[in-house]
Amino acid sequence: MNKAIFSLKKVSKVFPGVKALDGVDLHLYPGQVTALIGENGAGKSTLVKTMTGIYQPDGGDIIFNGKPVQFHSPHDSHALGITAIHQETVLFDDLTVAENIFLGNYPMKKGLMTKHFSIDWSAMVSRSQDILSSINAHMDPNQILRELSIGQKHMVGIARALSVDAKVVILDEPTAALSHHEIHELYELVNTLKQQGKAILFITHKFDEIFALADRYTVFRDGCYVGEGFIKDTNEGQLVEMMVARSIAATYPKKDVEIGETLLEVCNLCHTTEFANISFSLKKGEILGVYGLVGSGRTEVMQALFGTTDHVTGTVKMNGKEVIIHSPKDAIENGIVYVPEERQKQGIVLELPIYQNISLPQMDRLAKHGNLDQKSEMSLARQYCERLQVKASCWEEKVMNLSGGNQQKVVIAKWLATNPKVIILDEPTKGIDIGSKAAVHEFMSELVDSGLAVIMVSSELPEIMGMSDRILVMNEGLIVSELSRADATPEKVVSLATGGHVTC
Ligand SMILES: Nc1ncnc2c1ncn2[C@@H]1O[C@H](COP(=O)(O)OP(=O)(O)OP(=O)(O)O)[C@@H](O)[C@H]1O
Ligand SMILES: [Mg+2]
Repeated sequence: MNKAIFSLKKVSKVFPGVKALDGVDLHLYPGQVTALIGENGAGKSTLVKTMTGIYQPDGGDIIFNGKPVQFHSPHDSHALGITAIHQETVLFDDLTVAENIFLGNYPMKKGLMTKHFSIDWSAMVSRSQDILSSINAHMDPNQILRELSIGQKHMVGIARALSVDAKVVILDEPTAALSHHEIHELYELVNTLKQQGKAILFITHKFDEIFALADRYTVFRDGCYVGEGFIKDTNEGQLVEMMVARSIAATYPKKDVEIGETLLEVCNLCHTTEFANISFSLKKGEILGVYGLVGSGRTEVMQALFGTTDHVTGTVKMNGKEVIIHSPKDAIENGIVYVPEERQKQGIVLELPIYQNISLPQMDRLAKHGNLDQKSEMSLARQYCERLQVKASCWEEKVMNLSGGNQQKVVIAKWLATNPKVIILDEPTKGIDIGSKAAVHEFMSELVDSGLAVIMVSSELPEIMGMSDRILVMNEGLIVSELSRADATPEKVVSLATGGHVTC
């Protein structure tokens, strides 16, 4: 029988006020993919950090190749060939692709004249090129990271993990930021790693991925081990039940809402390089889905509407009146808010407590005689965070200590608390578990029911199909089609987004 190469037994990890892991077990096998499944805050990323020496466990055993091991730092686990692509990949925007791949592990050479070692830059570039080619990522190793898309940055993170001779590869929600096409390339990569005999841990909230890739599963709930088994012996219903211990209402609870008058009109919005001739309207009560591949210009259009992009021409009207949006302040004052895709960089201040993140956009409203009223801030935070089921020990907790999905919920809560008229959600349920996803969608339905209008940019087709009243499809900076809910099929939408023509 296949023996586990890497096991964790009865592992615990405690943070002040939270038992993130409570005696959990996990086993990884060579040549097999194990899916780790659990709700937001179940302890998955904490486990990954424990497996890679970032955190030291408070109890339990870590066993590698049959022998107990202790990791005092990430170097110790790296040395054994354990590599991870973390949920929030830490890469450096000002370094090159090659420097990011080999950071902390630069290839060295001995000088010709001296005995000193120095970085072997040409080896670093050529080895980076080899790794990037092996994962089908076509980019120049000398390019500065800042110039890449999120998806490409993710590929650099993967290349980094593969820069050592890995035996165990851990992927913590690797597809959350990737486009349809990039996801398929990643699947191929995982299958190649599997054939090479590597043991893989795959963390995802997407059930189609679990069934497409995994051989085994392990389920955690609230920091506790619930069970494990073979994927072939289970089904989605059973896994969801293990995960949440309750039944989930429909994931796409689209309500029939009365569509009101036109609220937002965008006319001929153009940007020098990113998009052109963008025209559309949005009515009260409507959810407008925007679908397109990464690089199609969808995010750039939304950022232009929120006033964070320069060099934009065209007109924007709210309630029939032209509005000038040169900054987020202009946008917020006109009732347009934007939940960005890159939550950690653009959505939250990690070092601040939850309640201060929530009150940030409306400090002037919450201040009394020039002083912030903490009571009002707290009550606002409580109201919206409870509504979105943010899991935290208290509202004074720093956002950096929340799980990835809960950080995303804080961003949404912050903008909803401003009482907007139009809310733009860019990948709203990225990294959000199935139960909370249903809650976010239900909330979207409630928002439009109360007269708001929603623009939802998403790479998740089921989400686009399930929640939109109308769908704009973008390709290469242009709106290539507008489909009604009744006319849209997944095939049509994907075909249009990839530049194909619809025949069906
Ligand atoms: N450094 C920390 N300090 C305090 N609490 C923490 C810290 N890191 C994680 N936690 C808490 O531990 C729990 C588990 O978090 P973890 O990030 O492991 O969840 P997760 O299963 O990865 O969730 P998600 O699906 O949202 O990524 C959460 O309640 C989180 O708030
Ligand atoms: Mg996580």
